[in-house]
Amino acid sequence: MLAELTHRCPLQCPYCSNPIALSRRSEELGTEEWVDVFGQAAALGVLQVHLSGGEPTARSDLEDLVAAARAAGLYNNLITAGVLLTRERLAALQAAGVDHVQLSVQDSDPVNADRIGNCRDGHARKLEVAGWVRELGLPLTVNAVVHRQNLDHIEEIVALAHRLGAHRLEIANVQYYGWALENLSALMPTREQVERAGAVAERARERYRGRMSIDYVVPDYFARRPKRCMDGWGSRFFAVTPRGRVLPCHAAETITGMAFSSVRERPLAWIWHNDAAFNRFRGLDWMPEPCRGCEHRERDLGGCRCQAFALTGDAGATDPVCERSPLHHLVTGRAVPPPGADGPAFRYRRFVAAPGGAVPGTTGAGSGQH
Ligand code: SF4
Ligand code: FES
Repeated sequence: MLAELTHRCPLQCPYCSNPIALSRRSEELGTEEWVDVFGQAAALGVLQVHLSGGEPTARSDLEDLVAAARAAGLYNNLITAGVLLTRERLAALQAAGVDHVQLSVQDSDPVNADRIGNCRDGHARKLEVAGWVRELGLPLTVNAVVHRQNLDHIEEIVALAHRLGAHRLEIANVQYYGWALENLSALMPTREQVERAGAVAERARERYRGRMSIDYVVPDYFARRPKRCMDGWGSRFFAVTPRGRVLPCHAAETITGMAFSSVRERPLAWIWHNDAAFNRFRGLDWMPEPCRGCEHRERDLGGCRCQAFALTGDAGATDPVCERSPLHHLVTGRAVPPPGADGPAFRYRRFVAAPGGAVPGTTGAGSGQH
């Protein structure tokens, strides 16, 4: 289970997986509501909860939520951008029962990292936080989302994660929906970059074997077949948004026109088993051709629903990343800025005013694309 405790965040990453229409603080589930959700999740059979956002440490009741997750028997992973943490707060969270910390970095280069997250001195603060995590004896995963503007630094990112004492490094290429789709031209790497990065990641995996495990999530825009996204829609994962909507995928709210039930209206178990959104793409029966008659359908499950919607406007279409999709040209025909060019300026994540509403202070992603 992914618990998106808030959309508030001191960073503004241009690839955040939170929806364009972010939830406000006043809409967020309260402490007791989250405690109840954790209890329901455990009863449903959930074993792990990822405490995320936005930036989960923006919530002043995080210690209570960690304690509640622990009391419910859920292994909990704090996914954080780090910059709001102090050593005292981290120690308090550990005392409350944090099992694991996942810290995002935007790049190995401090200047570029702060530019990508649009957060002054953010990188330096993250390095300090990583030191405290290790001093306190908590297991540490470093997470880096990579794209055109940092993909050439993978070797340095690996070295940084090792220096920080990470047990695990996750390097994930940007997925293009929501904010990342808005910034596609600035984020999409060239094929040469992708091939070079893949080779570097492979060598690094060998070099650090037994010392630090490295997961490298390949960019499927350059693949012939799509990824088995979410290991199947409504199969083994759900996310709860800051205002309590339950999603089969953390990015599912980018699929406009799809209704998702809330824990404020229905029990979690009812939503998991009965909600129309969860059942819409469960299993294989929903598949159109060419997936329906394809020998790979049980392996990739027709790819990513969010990506299919982002590219075609139809979440039920074959993922256009697949070379068998009749819309594959939507992926291969995309113009990418030439090698060496940064592409257009980022459109940073921020709260967008509702019609007639005020714009609260800007906030952004930290741990958005996890
Ligand atoms: Fe996968 Fe569908 Fe493509 Fe076959 S046609 S490889 S099932 S996405
Ligand atoms: Fe939502 Fe793939 S990211 S189904």
